[in-house]
This record gives sequence, structure tokens and C-alpha cells, in this order.
Amino acid sequence: MFELTDKVALVTGAARGLGQAIALKLAAAGADLALCDLNAEWAEETAAQVKALGRRAECYGVNVAEGESVTAGVKAIEKDFGKIDILVNNAGITKDGLLIRMSEDDWDAVLNVNLKGTFLCTKAVMRGMMKKRSGAIVNIASVIGLMGNAGQANYAASKGGVISFSKTVAKELSSRNVRCNAVAPGFIRTPMTDALGEDVQNKMKELIPLSRFGEPEDVANVVLFLASDASAYVTG
Ligand SMILES: NC(=O)c1ccc[n+]([C@@H]2O[C@H](COP(=O)([O-])OP(=O)(O)OC[C@H]3O[C@@H](n4cnc5c(N)ncnc54)[C@H](O)[C@@H]3O)[C@@H](O)[C@H]2O)c1
Repeated sequence: MFELTDKVALVTGAARGLGQAIALKLAAAGADLALCDLNAEWAEETAAQVKALGRRAECYGVNVAEGESVTAGVKAIEKDFGKIDILVNNAGITKDGLLIRMSEDDWDAVLNVNLKGTFLCTKAVMRGMMKKRSGAIVNIASVIGLMGNAGQANYAASKGGVISFSKTVAKELSSRNVRCNAVAPGFIRTPMTDALGEDVQNKMKELIPLSRFGEPEDVANVVLFLASDASAYVTG
């Protein structure tokens, strides 16, 4: 049911953290992987692990916040692999600070990677998916995009945007059998959350029913479901 043999998956931000775990989970289900990150070399470690699972992996240097970079990357992937069946918009950044001190640059940087990057990558792959009348797009949002968080106005706005963007893409592409969904993870143990102070981490754990952070694989399991035919009736 979670079979992805002969599928080609593009994962952004695939060098580490959730992106790496997602890439490995999709590869274990049989997919070949186009691994995108700011620098192609950063994704080599993920590529080596995908290859060890017996699947094909190629690395691409793509800045998801820049239209030309995304267009060139997707063009190269479609040439190398012949198609893209699954897109996982995972690349994301934080630049935290209370709103009163938040600079315009920090606002723009986060919105550009998290929200505009999701728009650019989706737009670049959707034509190919619409043509072959199948595709699955999975956008990594965040629980912060649903509930807000002091010190993360830019991040919360970007992830709230990703959720409403995903619902809209689902509506626009459903007639072509292209599905689009968003995952809103809680707090997951990655380099992004490792960077937070211990007191912040402990405060977060108080909000979590299981009283611990999730692991990247917990999110990857949900992405696998949404990328596979097991979720054929789930979109938006
Ligand atoms: N870790 C968590 O607790 C958590 C919770 C909810 C949502 N998320 C989301 O999950 C996604 C992955 O988070 P993570 O914790 O693995 O982060 P991470 O910082 O560990 O990894 C992010 C990856 O994205 C890449 N990246 C950054 N900017 C990019 C750009 N402009 N173009 C291409 N690649 C770029 C980085 O090089 C890095 O490899 C993000 O969208 C994040 O917002 C994370």
C-alpha cells in the first residue's frame, strides 16, 4: 500500500534533519530521489544512504527562494529522471525574534524560503504532473502555523501560508489527479530544534501530550502515507 517503486521523488532541504529522514523513508518504499539543498554537496551524505537502500539518488544545488534556481533545478531533474511523481517542499528556516525587534530582512528571509519557496517549487513541477495526470505534493508546514508562537511571527505567518496554499493547490489540481497536502509537525529533534536553549525545550515539552520531542522518522512516516496511493482520497 505504501509502495513507491518506479516513482521519482524530489525532496527540498534534503541534506539533513526532516528532509534527510523523508528521503530515506521514500527510498525504502522504492522511490528514486532527486535531493535538493542550497549546495548539492551537502546532500551527498543523504544520497549515499539512499544508494545503500538500492535506489537512485542525484543531488542538486537549488535555492528554493530564487525562481531561476528552482526552474533550472527542476529542468535538470526532469531531464535526468524523465519525470517527477512526488514533491516534498521541506526546506525551511527560522529567524526568531519578538515582533517589536524583527527586521524587515528577517521577515523577508523566512517568508521567501518557507512560503515563496513552496510556491516556486510547486509551480515548477505542477505542469509535468498535470500532463501525466498524477502526482503528490506534500508541504511541510508546522504546528506554529496553526497556533502561533511568541518570537516567531515570520515563521508562523509563513507556515500558516503554506497550509492555506496547500488547500488551494489541492482545489486547483484535483481534476488532474494531482493531490496536495500539508503536514504540520510539532517539535521534532533536528539541528533546527537542537539550537534552542534547554529551558525553551523544556517549556515546549510541557505542551506535548507524550512529554517528548518527536523524531524525524515520525514525520517521514506521515509523508510516506501522503506521497503514496494509501492516501489516494486525501487532498487539501
Ligand atoms: N524540527 C522541527 O521541530 C520542525 C517542526 C515543524 C516543522 N518543521 C519544518 O520542517 C522542515 C525541515 O526542518 P528541519 O528541522 O529538518 O530543519 P534543518 O535546519 O535541520 O534542515 C533544513 C534544510 O533545508 C535547507 N535549506 C535551507 N534554506 C534553503 C533554501 N533556500 N533552499 C534549499 N534548501 C534550503 C538547509 O540547508 C537544511 O539542509 C522545515 O520546513 C521546518 O520549518 C520542523
